[in-house]
Amino acid sequence: MDFPRFHVSRSIKNLVVALLLAIESSCDETAVAIVRGTNGERAEVLASEISSQIELHCEFGGVVPELASRNHSLHLRGLVEASLKNAGIRMNEFDAFAATTGPGLASSLLVGSTAAKAMACATGRPFLAINHLEGHLLSPFIDLTFVPPHIALIVSGGHTLLLDVEGLGNYQKLGGTRDDAAGEAYDKVGKMLGLAYPGGPEIEKIAKLGNPQAYHFPRSMLHESHFDFSFSGLKTAVLYTLQKQNAGIHVADLAASFQQAVIDILVRKSFFAAQQTGHTRIAISGGVSLNQALRLAFQQAGNEHGVEIIVASPVFCADNAAMIAFAALLRYLAGESSSLDGDVHPNLPLV
Ligand code: KG4
Ligand code: ZN
Repeated sequence: MDFPRFHVSRSIKNLVVALLLAIESSCDETAVAIVRGTNGERAEVLASEISSQIELHCEFGGVVPELASRNHSLHLRGLVEASLKNAGIRMNEFDAFAATTGPGLASSLLVGSTAAKAMACATGRPFLAINHLEGHLLSPFIDLTFVPPHIALIVSGGHTLLLDVEGLGNYQKLGGTRDDAAGEAYDKVGKMLGLAYPGGPEIEKIAKLGNPQAYHFPRSMLHESHFDFSFSGLKTAVLYTLQKQNAGIHVADLAASFQQAVIDILVRKSFFAAQQTGHTRIAISGGVSLNQALRLAFQQAGNEHGVEIIVASPVFCADNAAMIAFAALLRYLAGESSSLDGDVHPNLPLV
């Protein structure tokens, strides 16, 4: 008889080995990943496939929900097949299936979660509903082991969050943005400068050629004794500078000065959180954490203050399914599963 190679009922010296497939389709990336892992040991990412829709949404300057969901349906099957092939795994070998069920675009979340539930039904294995933000939060630890406590900074296109992480599922929100997310500010300023969507990587490229001290932009709430962020004043200040100086504007200087303001705010608030909680480790995740200047600034501040900085590997910073599979693996190993009747939750909070 053909037994599954890795099933939860099979343990080696009390080590439970689990194999999971996860789908991420909360926004404009369709992604599938396969991970294998045990309690307390480094997980193995056996496959991580992504189909980006950036080019498709580029001409609209942002994500068009209907286009996004239709493209998830078109690409998902091919990504699942490629993942199985790359990992050398058959469908009946999985211990569980997982998908992002929020936050995100409802019609996009439905595609991935329905597919994962169907696989769970067909194989008789459990399904795990995963919060996209928990995927980001845990992503710095995919190629390590998950060792809290620490401060988590999630900086993406939709979120800017500071959390006190005490353990799996034991998260306390310290602060978040009161208006735009950091990535959203990058994207809006990119649009003002006539750059391609998404603005983050484009601004980073141009900023390398500019002087970050050339324009002085506001750093909202920098010295206030809370952990919230605000980026809309910064965005408006960039707009006013553009309107006032129009022809005389130096785009690289402006991009570098804007980026410096974002980095100053993120570094200051994160280290304030570490100081107030007594944590000596900050873990950074989300699309904006791809930014090299941000990584460097955190590293320098970390060296100065004796705080360890753990940033997600570049392949796991932006939306991907490996982070969802990793979160699902930790939860599965902790004995959790979700109902097949559960809905998607476009505004699902993390805490
Ligand atoms: O995590 P992510 O892929 O998707 C969300 O969950 O939102 O993050 C996307 C965001 C976009 O706003 C994009 O402009 C930003 O991450 N981003 C960057 C860089 N690469 C992507 N921001 C600054 N510098 C970058 N190199
Ligand atoms: Zn994301």
